[in-house]
Amino acid sequence: MTNNRVIEVKDIIAGYTRDVDVLCGISLHTDAAEIVTLLGPNGCGKSTLLKTIAGYIRPRLGKILFEGKDVSRIAVHDKIRRHGLGFVPQTENVFTSLSVHDNLRVGGHYLDDNACRRRIETLCTLYPVLERKLSASAASLSGGERQILALARALMPEPTILLLDEPSAGLSPKMLDEVFEAIQQIRAKELVTILMVEQNAMEALRISDRAYVLSMGTVAITGPADALMNDERMRELYLGGRPA
Ligand SMILES: Nc1ncnc2c1ncn2[C@@H]1O[C@H](COP(=O)(O)OP(=O)(O)O)[C@@H](O)[C@H]1O
Ligand SMILES: [Mg+2]
Repeated sequence: MTNNRVIEVKDIIAGYTRDVDVLCGISLHTDAAEIVTLLGPNGCGKSTLLKTIAGYIRPRLGKILFEGKDVSRIAVHDKIRRHGLGFVPQTENVFTSLSVHDNLRVGGHYLDDNACRRRIETLCTLYPVLERKLSASAASLSGGERQILALARALMPEPTILLLDEPSAGLSPKMLDEVFEAIQQIRAKELVTILMVEQNAMEALRISDRAYVLSMGTVAITGPADALMNDERMRELYLGGRPA
């Protein structure tokens, strides 16, 4: 194991009920300040894997390490508070009944008032769209703005690990570019390690260092992002087969 390994998942078996395994022995890792993407067809276990790494689901077997520490049995709130985790779930990732500002405050509820205020200022500088809409209701934001708010909310406690579940879901190509730009900025500015699930495979690979393709609860393909973009198997999966 190298010492810049940030997430290490070893032979994870997990599911929602005792008799059905959704994850059937998954291993992966991320290094410091990498962007790593998880791809794969609907229902193959991508969200389940992120929820297991986050701590919403306890693995039946296997281990999860954050920076070398065994966090396999640590619940999500403790991982957020003590182990540098930020998590943006696939759905319902902002509080639409609250303002943009108050969404950020909720993300910073472990910080004292001063630290929270400073962190909101920092994130507003990084993502000016939030500053412009700080007192607006989160319900009034566009899809792209909401994703950036969800990202910023998870970033409030200055996580070292960020898990993002389909940050570009439902966005137009232009908004997708903006959200991916926001993700790259946070990696560049704060050296956060990012593990994200994406449906937009080729666009996600363009901003990623490496990727894992899941199939039926196992890792089917893995490699550097640029190699996967040119991989025949990826073309078959995502571009509807090889040319005749
Ligand atoms: N809350 C849940 N309870 C029971 N089964 C679930 C639940 N969420 C997902 N599943 C099942 O787990 C499998 C993997 O789902 P999921 O991880 O959401 O896939 P993906 O994110 O790759 O589309 C699917 O068969 C799905 O039906
Ligand atoms: Mg999913």
